[in-house]
Amino acid sequence: MELIVAGNREDLVKARRAGTVALVPTMGALHEGHRSLIRQARVRADQVVVSIFVNPLQFSPNEDFSRYPRTFDSDLDACRAEGVDVVFHPAVEDMYPPDRQISVSSGEMGRIVEGAARPGHFDGMLTVVLKLFNLVQPDLAVFGQKDAQQLALIRRMVADFDLPIEILGSPTVREPDGLALSSRNRFLSEDDRRPALALSRALRAGAARLTPSEIRRTAMAVLDEAGPGLEVDYLALVDPATFAEVSESYEGLAVLAVAARVGSTRLIDNVTLTLNPA
Ligand code: PAF
Repeated sequence: MELIVAGNREDLVKARRAGTVALVPTMGALHEGHRSLIRQARVRADQVVVSIFVNPLQFSPNEDFSRYPRTFDSDLDACRAEGVDVVFHPAVEDMYPPDRQISVSSGEMGRIVEGAARPGHFDGMLTVVLKLFNLVQPDLAVFGQKDAQQLALIRRMVADFDLPIEILGSPTVREPDGLALSSRNRFLSEDDRRPALALSRALRAGAARLTPSEIRRTAMAVLDEAGPGLEVDYLALVDPATFAEVSESYEGLAVLAVAARVGSTRLIDNVTLTLNPA
């Protein structure tokens, strides 16, 4: 089947076929991590729709919206190679008419951890994801575990708004040296790479410890060793569903998440671990 590129909502409606539809929402600049999301969608659905839309609502004025990489032609090549059926690539004006009023609130959960570092980010992200769900009407949607708080908030929105969509999380894809793949990695210079690797190293070191206090202390020590080239935003050990910090007696799955700035590039990463298993 030939890839259909739908540049607006009318073309998207025309491209719809019978059968199970999977949506992979992206902001483009596709890399192997996105391709693994697409492959997961491909296994489950008759029609795979990839949206490519750099969403202005989830960037604050001091963030990198205009600098965000846009690589549409190579994104289409990647979609063709992965057997995607439809690429939905709307213009900003098509998604957000000027008389728009209502947006999604990510609540308290959207204002902690990553949300505290990026005020308004999760409201903008949930607003576009809800719009994409309404426009594409998928049966399932696939998101990367690398954005663990985003994934948790999307699951929360689906539950709170009774959306009939199955949400799948897909494991983080890493470079051989441990760096989590991200569209922003292309901004890292050779010199930036050394401090950038401290993120995954800190998560691995932390995850090898047993108690929350040891985990936090060990991971933070590795981040501190990276020196002034790494400016840590936060290190958090949280409940994967709520993103609330876990207590020393917490039992079950937890997420150890980190965000840091290397030069002008902001990186995030996380690992999932089990605390106090019975
Ligand atoms: O993860 C992303 O690339 C974006 O936050 C998403 C989910 C496509 C919404 O703009």
